[in-house]
Amino acid sequence: MLGAGLDTFSLRNPHAGQGVRVFEVDYPATQTWKRERLKQAGLAVPASLTFAPVDFERQSLAEGLQAAGFQADRPAFFQWLGVVPYLTREAVSLTLDFIAGVPESGVVFDYAEPFENYPDDRRADVMTIAARAASRGEPWLSLFDPAELSKMLRNKGFGIVEDLGMAGIAERFYGALKQGIVIGPGAHIVRAQKAR
Ligand SMILES: C[S@@+](CC[C@H](N)C(=O)[O-])C[C@H]1O[C@@H](n2cnc3c(N)ncnc32)[C@H](O)[C@@H]1O
Repeated sequence: MLGAGLDTFSLRNPHAGQGVRVFEVDYPATQTWKRERLKQAGLAVPASLTFAPVDFERQSLAEGLQAAGFQADRPAFFQWLGVVPYLTREAVSLTLDFIAGVPESGVVFDYAEPFENYPDDRRADVMTIAARAASRGEPWLSLFDPAELSKMLRNKGFGIVEDLGMAGIAERFYGALKQGIVIGPGAHIVRAQKAR
């Protein structure tokens, strides 16, 4: 789990019994804080969970994971949610290169489209949201055009690329709530998988 934040999947890992291990990667300071919060809440760290402190902008993911005992020659699935927009393109590309090097690997992540992709009546609102995020110290550093990103993923060796835009996300995940969803450019969720 890349940029795991306060996600608690690792505490509920239903596949631990079959030997599925979870590695949580995050900013060292954020991870330390999470571990303290777990302790305060009386939540034990399961044996299937390993923490790997890494700053994607300054450290190599390969080295950080290796130091934590991750075996990059074994199949792995990477969850990378709510992180890509906050990283530079270089960090995103290097992380995808590492994932592509892991056999039978797959990754799911979300991203947002560049401002120029939005129709005039929505662009100003999106730019206001981005400016608000930047003023909190969390600027959006990487925005991707869907066609460009798909090409980049395929060039890196991901044979299967499934990209859900707003319509696809609403259809698959929102159920009865999808009525109010604005369809058009915006957030995307991508699954990229190496072919076996
Ligand atoms: C919006 S949170 C998402 C958390 C979690 N994945 C979720 O979906 O609930 C963004 C996460 O990315 C991490 N992050 C952002 N930039 C990072 C970087 N350069 N290196 C490591 N982690 C980073 C933050 O520490 C935070 O945990």
